[in-house]
Amino acid sequence: MANHVVLVGLMGSGKTTVGRRLAARLDRPFVDADAVLEEAADRTIAQLFERDGETAFRELESDTFEELLEHDQPRVIASGGGLVLRSGNRARLRRQDVTVVFLDAGPAFLASRVESKPHRPLLHGPESTLDVITRLHGERASLYAGVADLIVPVEPFHTREEKPKRALAERIAELVVAHEARVTA
Ligand code: S3P
Repeated sequence: MANHVVLVGLMGSGKTTVGRRLAARLDRPFVDADAVLEEAADRTIAQLFERDGETAFRELESDTFEELLEHDQPRVIASGGGLVLRSGNRARLRRQDVTVVFLDAGPAFLASRVESKPHRPLLHGPESTLDVITRLHGERASLYAGVADLIVPVEPFHTREEKPKRALAERIAELVVAHEARVTA
C-alpha cells in the first residue's frame, strides 16, 4: 500500500524541487506545505513571522501538516524546514502510515545553494546565510534523522551526476517503493 511521502530537511536541501520530480515518478500529487499554509492563512510566511511571530507560524504549520495527512490519496509533501521542531509533529512523522525522507547535506553545501526567498524570513536577519544554516543544522540534524525512514545524502548526487535532481528523484522513488513494500508486507 502507498503512503504519504514527506520530505524533510533544511532549507536548500531540495525538498520542493526534488519533491516535484519524485511525485511525478511515483505518480502521486505533489504538495508544498508552505504554499498550502500561505493560501489557508491568506498571508505570506514573511507576513506571518513579522506580524504574528514565529510561534504563531509554527502553530499554523503544524495544523496544516495534520490536515494534509488526512487526505486519503497518497501524496508527496515537501515540508517546511522547521516542521520537526515540535514534538507532536515528530510523533506524527514516526507513524507507519507516512514515509519520511530526510534530504541530508552539510551546512556549506546548503548555504551555497539556498536562496533568500520571501518565504524564508529566517535568512533575512543580520547573520550570514552560512551562520544561520550552520546553527539550524546543529539544532535540527538529529531531529530529521530521528523521524526519517530513509536518509538520503544529496551532496554526492550533485558532485557525480549531470542531472542531480533527476537522479535523486529516481533513487528516492526506488527507495520509497522498497520501503513501502517492506512495511506493508
Ligand atoms: C523554515 C523553512 C522554510 C519556511 C519558513 C521556516 C525553517 O521552508 O517554512 O521560512 O524554519 O527552516 P523551506 O525549508 O521550504 O525553505
